[in-house]
Amino acid sequence: MVDVALSPVEAGDGPDRPLHVAIIMDGNGRWARSRGKPRTFGHREGAKAVRRTIEAASDFGVTHLTLFGFSSENWTRPATEIGDIMALVRFYLRRELAELHRSNVRFQVIGDRTQLSDDIVELIENAERTTRNNTGLAVTLALSYGGRAEIAGAARRIAEEAAAGRLKPEAVDETALAARLSTHGCPDPDLVIRTSGEQRLSNFLLWQVAYAEFVFLDVLWPDFDRTHLASALDEFGRRERRYGRALS
Ligand code: IPE
Ligand code: IPE
Ligand code: MG
Repeated sequence: MVDVALSPVEAGDGPDRPLHVAIIMDGNGRWARSRGKPRTFGHREGAKAVRRTIEAASDFGVTHLTLFGFSSENWTRPATEIGDIMALVRFYLRRELAELHRSNVRFQVIGDRTQLSDDIVELIENAERTTRNNTGLAVTLALSYGGRAEIAGAARRIAEEAAAGRLKPEAVDETALAARLSTHGCPDPDLVIRTSGEQRLSNFLLWQVAYAEFVFLDVLWPDFDRTHLASALDEFGRRERRYGRALS
């Protein structure tokens, strides 16, 4: 067990707050396959890891937690697997809302909602509405999310506003673009964790991770627990973030 009192965030020379942790929750399929079970079984266990992670992140003083649950490209998976994942999303949103709200979590979803079924969109909107004024951990679930699509959408909005005469081309800068992303108002991730041993972004938060630190873990997502989060935060605490400055 990790002693929460000795968590890296509490340890003194830890990172500046707010601490935004973004996680690419990968490896559900391999976890299931290694047990001779269908991939859905891994996704179901993965949902339990989500619950554990939200709890641990709150305990460790993380202020923002963004979880990659389903990418734009995951729509290319077999219909049966997509159906199973969406059923799980539905189940999770119904079952966890009360607990998230009780834990003072502010919950929101980013990604292309036009691809999601109406009842899931309603559950998302209800969860966002219910938890809107909560002041604890801000949890963002990336669902049907792709970083390139998000940036293209922001560029399209800028073009529309410029064409309508509401935005001058010279006013288009990094702040203007960031303000039109789905993550506007949320600090950029400080730390990106990917489980499963893969070392790639898979189209996650491309704009926002410009200066994030990356930690790749060999654990499969369903096995992820607070000790893994603690060790990733420890590793983060040992990094020196320079943002392009010269070494002092
Ligand atoms: C992550 O686990 C969950 C989703 C992408 C929906 P995977 O389903 O990608 O599991 P692996 O990578 O095949 O093991
Ligand atoms: C990224 O995992 C998406 C999520 C974890 C939700 P993938 O399993 O889809 O990524 P690739 O295909 O290995 O790059
Ligand atoms: Mg995967």
